[in-house]
Amino acid sequence: ARLVVLVSGSGTNLQALIDAAQDPAYGAVILAVGADRTDIAGLKRAEAAGIPTFVHRIVDHADRAAWDAALTASVAGYEPDLVVTAGFMKILGPEFIGAFAGRIVNTHPALLPAFPGAHGVPDALAYGVKVTGCTVHLVDAGVDTGPIIAQGVVEVLDADHADGGEALHERIKTVERTLLVEVVGRLAREGHRIEDRKVWIPA
Ligand code: GRF
Repeated sequence: ARLVVLVSGSGTNLQALIDAAQDPAYGAVILAVGADRTDIAGLKRAEAAGIPTFVHRIVDHADRAAWDAALTASVAGYEPDLVVTAGFMKILGPEFIGAFAGRIVNTHPALLPAFPGAHGVPDALAYGVKVTGCTVHLVDAGVDTGPIIAQGVVEVLDADHADGGEALHERIKTVERTLLVEVVGRLAREGHRIEDRKVWIPA
């Protein structure tokens, strides 16, 4: 399957996909990596792997709709089977969602529907949860609201309250990278169906 991955930061989830895709049996090829900002490690990881990159910053476009259209055109140009947002910190616009509906996979560092949004880890910590984790889901028009594909659980430790969630987020990312590689590989090799918000991957 043909993948485009969108990032906004360190790109360790992207790196896990790059490493997995080295094996032809994985069944996915990363055609390009897109970002909403320049000068991030995620883009350097793509360049180091010889993967084409593109950047669309909101400020480079007349307005949000123009940004949405430009991002959609850049991604569509690669004719992806799947788009993966891994630490992409922008809400995808209606044109993008319309173009790739049902084929956009996102990873979120909390157990959705709990703690959606850009601060899922500190929000869960502040709430005092005893377990949290990560969710791999299909993206719909909402924020972190699409059909759930897989989740992984991570225990919260007392010490996690001392550093604002940094250690907890790193432990979540360890689970998240494994889960994302597994789910993207299966979607790439076997496809999926969506029924009543359930995502069925052939057994
Ligand atoms: C991941 O935990 C992702 O779920 C969240 O931000 C983190 C990105 O990490 N949105 P990386 O850029 O893949 O290292």
